[in-house]
Amino acid sequence: PDLAEFVRGLPKAELHLHLEGTLEPELKFRLAERNGIRLPERTVEEVRQTYRFHDLTSFLRVYYPAMQVLQQPRDFHDLAFEYLTRAHADGIRHVEMFFDPQAHTGRGVPFESVIGGYRSAIVQAHREFGISAELILCFLRDHSAEYAMATLMEALPYRDWIIGVGLDSDERGNPPRKFAAVFERARREGFLLTMHCDIDQPDSREHIRQALEEIGVDRLDHGTNIVEDERLVELVRAKGIGLTCCPVSNSFVTAQMKSDEIIGLLDRGLLVTLNSDDPAYFGAYAADNYLALEKHAGLDADRLVELARNSFRASWLTPARLDGYL
Ligand code: HPA
Ligand code: ZN
Repeated sequence: PDLAEFVRGLPKAELHLHLEGTLEPELKFRLAERNGIRLPERTVEEVRQTYRFHDLTSFLRVYYPAMQVLQQPRDFHDLAFEYLTRAHADGIRHVEMFFDPQAHTGRGVPFESVIGGYRSAIVQAHREFGISAELILCFLRDHSAEYAMATLMEALPYRDWIIGVGLDSDERGNPPRKFAAVFERARREGFLLTMHCDIDQPDSREHIRQALEEIGVDRLDHGTNIVEDERLVELVRAKGIGLTCCPVSNSFVTAQMKSDEIIGLLDRGLLVTLNSDDPAYFGAYAADNYLALEKHAGLDADRLVELARNSFRASWLTPARLDGYL
C-alpha cells in the first residue's frame, strides 16, 4: 500500500506541538476580520512569503507577532479545534500540546480566555472524534523567572486542565538553571516537567545536562544534541527520557533535518519520537514528519512502527491508558 496511507493509518501520539504554531494563514485572516484587526499582509500567499526562517530567532520574530489575532476565548477554541480535527485525520490518537500563556497575557488577554478556549476545544474534539489531548504550559525563557513564577501561580486554579510545564522561545543565554525555582515549584504542585533544548544552540550540551541533572525533567523537547556527548546519551537512556524530535522544524531552523542523529539515537534504543512542532509554519503535520524523514534517510516499516509506538511510550498517558496503545 501507499506509504503515506500506511503512516497516516498508524496510531500515533504527538508530544511536541505548539498550539500557537498551528495558526494557518486562512484562520489568521478569519480571526483578524472577526476582531477588526488590520494585517500587513493581504493574501494567504503574502503571509506564506513571510515564512522564511534561517534560525530559531528569525522564526520567533514571525511567530510571536502573528498571535495578536487571538483575542477572545472562541479564537483559542477555533485554533485548537482546527488543529485537533487535522490531527485526528492524520492518525493522531493522543496529543500533549504546548501553549504560551505569556504571549497572550503580556498583551492584555486574560489567562482564563486562553485556557478556557483551549479546554472547550479539547472537550469537544474528544466528544466528536475520541482524540485525547492534554495541555503543557510553556514559560517564555527570554523573560524573567519572576514572570514565569507569576504565570505558574495564575495557572494553579486550572491545574486539572494542565498536565505539565515546559520552556520555550529564545534559548540563547537563557539556560534551564534560570528557571530552577519555577520548575521546582511546578513539580511540587504536581506538574510533569519538560524543556526545549533546541537544535544547535550555544551551550547546548550544558543546557541539556542542567535539564537532566539539575531540573530533573521527565522529557526533553528536541534534545538531539545529546549525540555529541556519550555521557548524556547514557543518562537519557538510564532515566528512560523521551526525546521529542521534529525533523521538518529542524530543516527550517538549522537547514538540516538532523536525520542521521535522530535515526542513530533511535537505533541505539533511545525513546525517540517524531513530531511537528509548529506545523502551520513548517508546512508539515505529524505524518508528514514521518514521511519527510523516510524520504530523506530511508526508514523501513519496522522503524516507522517503532517510532509510532515510541510516541505512546514517551507520552504522559497513565499506564492503564497506555496499555491500550502498545
Ligand atoms: N523552540 C523554541 N521555541 C519555540 C519552538 C521551538 O521549537 N516552537 C515554538 N516556539
Ligand atoms: Zn518546539
